[in-house]
Amino acid sequence: MHKIAPSILSADFSRLGEEVKAIEKGGAQLIHVDVMDGHFVPNISFGSTVMKSLLGKTKVPFDVHLMIEAPEKYLADFVTDNTAYVTVHWEACPAVLEVIDRIHKYGIKAGVSINPDTEVQVLAPILERVDMVLVMSVYPGFGGQAFIPSALDKIRTLRDLRKSKGYSYEIEVDGGINSENILQVLDAGADIIVAGSSIFKQHDVEKATRGYVKISAER
Ligand code: DX5
Ligand code: ZN
Repeated sequence: MHKIAPSILSADFSRLGEEVKAIEKGGAQLIHVDVMDGHFVPNISFGSTVMKSLLGKTKVPFDVHLMIEAPEKYLADFVTDNTAYVTVHWEACPAVLEVIDRIHKYGIKAGVSINPDTEVQVLAPILERVDMVLVMSVYPGFGGQAFIPSALDKIRTLRDLRKSKGYSYEIEVDGGINSENILQVLDAGADIIVAGSSIFKQHDVEKATRGYVKISAER
């Protein structure tokens, strides 16, 4: 089943509870939580306190995307009853398998992400051990950037590898997804679609979410 994961990075933070209610009513399957440290990426977003302020306000599980250096130091902060996935960047983890193991010990699905300049092949030794691969289709750091088409080949490669090797990871795609390219991304083989600005910058956030949920369910 495909999943839609609206990124609250583009939400109106002064009304975050209402924004999350709107995506929940629209049928979002995950809430994408973009954490940036100003070191791994040239921007600072928010930390676990903001995510935890949503506990008890939504039943939609958190999909945490850590764009931070040394993510192993902060994993525990993001472990909640509502956390479904924690994803770390391959580029930020010299010992990525150890970090994956630590996420699993919390009983949470572990994802690994690659930046646009990183080839899928670097992940070969770890694909068997991850629950999700997040393909960045923009340079991480900011919402509202244009989709980088070379991500499509990476999605296809990951889909083919999963089949030929019998792996079971889900494929998530993040950055620049809108109503004009979402079908291409789904058809390349994405399972989880992140969308920030193309949902939260719409006048009707619930309707925008429902539109993506419908498109992805029909694919
Ligand atoms: C980028 C973040 C994305 C971003 C997506 O660094 O990881 O999740 O919020 O936003 P849009 O959909 O606007 O590209
Ligand atoms: Zn993200």
